[in-house]
Amino acid sequence: ANGAAKSGKSRNIIEKLEQSGKNCVVFYGSQTGTAEDYASRLAKEGHSRFGLNTMVADLEDYDFDNLDQFPEDKLAVFVLATYGEGEPTDNAVEFYEFISSDDISFSGGLGAEDKPLASLKYVTFGLGNNTYEHYNSMVRNVDKFLTKLGATRLGKAGEGDDGAGTMEEDFLAWKEPMWADVAKQMCLEERESVYEPVFEIAEKPDMDAEEDTVYLGEPNKNHLEGSQKGPFNANNPFIAPIAESKELFTAKDRNCLHMEIDISGSNLTYTTGDHIAIWPTNAGKEVDRFLNILGITSKRHMVIAVKGLDPTAKVPFPSPTTYDAAIRYHMEICAPVSRQFVSTLAQFAPTEEVKAEMVKIGGDKDYFHQTVIDRNLNLAQLLEILSNGQPWVKVPFSLMIEGLVKIQPRYYSISSSSSVQKDKIAITAVVESLSKPNSPHILKGVTTNYLLALKQKQHGDPDPDPHGLNYALTGPRNKYDGIHVPVHVRHSNFKLPSDPTKPIIMVGPGTGVAPFRAFVQERAAQALAGQAVGKTVLFFGCRRKQEDFLYENEWDQYKKDLGDNFILHVAFSRDGPKKVYVQHKIEEFAEELDKLLQQKAYFYVCGDAANMAREVNALLAQIISKQRGIPESKAEEIVKAMRASNQYQEDVWS
Ligand code: 2AM
Repeated sequence: ANGAAKSGKSRNIIEKLEQSGKNCVVFYGSQTGTAEDYASRLAKEGHSRFGLNTMVADLEDYDFDNLDQFPEDKLAVFVLATYGEGEPTDNAVEFYEFISSDDISFSGGLGAEDKPLASLKYVTFGLGNNTYEHYNSMVRNVDKFLTKLGATRLGKAGEGDDGAGTMEEDFLAWKEPMWADVAKQMCLEERESVYEPVFEIAEKPDMDAEEDTVYLGEPNKNHLEGSQKGPFNANNPFIAPIAESKELFTAKDRNCLHMEIDISGSNLTYTTGDHIAIWPTNAGKEVDRFLNILGITSKRHMVIAVKGLDPTAKVPFPSPTTYDAAIRYHMEICAPVSRQFVSTLAQFAPTEEVKAEMVKIGGDKDYFHQTVIDRNLNLAQLLEILSNGQPWVKVPFSLMIEGLVKIQPRYYSISSSSSVQKDKIAITAVVESLSKPNSPHILKGVTTNYLLALKQKQHGDPDPDPHGLNYALTGPRNKYDGIHVPVHVRHSNFKLPSDPTKPIIMVGPGTGVAPFRAFVQERAAQALAGQAVGKTVLFFGCRRKQEDFLYENEWDQYKKDLGDNFILHVAFSRDGPKKVYVQHKIEEFAEELDKLLQQKAYFYVCGDAANMAREVNALLAQIISKQRGIPESKAEEIVKAMRASNQYQEDVWS
């Protein structure tokens, strides 16, 4: 069941288009919010520049068996991200199952061979990452299926590459010729675009923010009414107590957290290898900056009722709320700024001079990189620098809601075994802090710094907030005096073999070791319970033995439990004169590794996608080639086949 069905809203997109007088729908399949953001930008631009009557639609909210009745004078836009190993995003799974089905049938009774979608005109843009094997496979497959079913794509299929870091520029470069094609084929004329707000923000000076109907950060009605109810999922987090937290590094300048999150009583379940989603809160320091630069600090606790000026516009947070709560809990104010948004904001600059600079930054890709990206600036920091702190009072708050992504939960690989501790989920997270040489700003990871602050509070740290980040740690309405964090669980396919006697080989440098701690924990418990357990080989890498050797003491215990069946290889990259990485350790172990693979050992990689995982993949083919005396091309095919059969599994991030 999903949102639309539960609230009794129609899942019929054709009807929705007719009723709302729209002639263009922009569908999105989004996991982290970027595709959703691009979809809403396209919808706005289609309207303001070309007079299209557009709406944005979450793929999850509609059925598609009547796409054969899509009117030929309307347009469907598909903005589709590819997730993980070439999978659809969570909200696009049902759509993808439908459109890719072998025995697809439409409500008009036509089958695939009848070209049922002959009246459908569409365009596509895909969001992918070329460091993954199945680059942009979601959008490519959807495009292929739509064409096969008789639909007509207008213009070139667009693709953006996060791996190369060019997503935004790929998008901007694709959309201009796309609009030209669409305008030509739909006989649209470009017009001078003026900004029209999507949302109405009604201020309620007579209302008290403490009234129990006002949302102060509660994600939905049940939470507001103080009775959180399951099922807990991506639309409804469980506010979980943090049972335990500790620091894993001994290095002074870096932090890595181990946390145990208590899910008992929530009905949430997990299995070893799954991910936990953490719902972050913005740092108070950044909330203050954002309010300040808009000139609305004095009314931060003003109650506001937000609604869409158009019936198809979805308000991305519950209302009524306050400026403070909307910004703190729901708007991604620390994300990188997009070049298009800089251009849009220019017209609301406080002075002509600042406006000219904004136009320049928005119009020049290299200059944008120098002034914004290379300096790590978030939106408020950029505006602050450009106007010298003078507030931008002309910016409509609606535009901020439109232009910023809604805050997204972050996913972490669970580092505990569900058979050892089913009610407590462990995470292992390095606290992110990124500085660039010519920037006054240190980019602070929103979620990991929030977790660090919770840990410091739990431990009564004497200097809990050295950077003045000022997180609200007790939740909305200071409800939690204990240490809590909102979570849900995302199931994954990264799994131990069901037969514990099968050998496994794991490669996880840095916090890539997280799921492998869970795997080894599980196997150690099985061995203690008297079960036969197969060879369990782990390759771990870190900088220095004395600094960041994660779970050093635990491995000793697991060795006792598992005996010779547990083999740990550690690469210390900065202890010796030369860098040693997990790849070097794997090479030293090549002969035995290949033997294990021939015994059908499972091979797992977790951690950095861009370099490490790719290099390990290539190395494995080299090893197989050498050990078996076969050409590398043949070995590469073997590795591919291992992936296809799930003998080779990845849990990687970029
Ligand atoms: P380095 O930072 O000293 O280069 C965890 O981050 C460990 O992974 C560190 O020891 C880090 O080494 C190492 N590392 C960095 N790049 C890597 C790569 N491409 N392959 C494997 N390990 C890498």
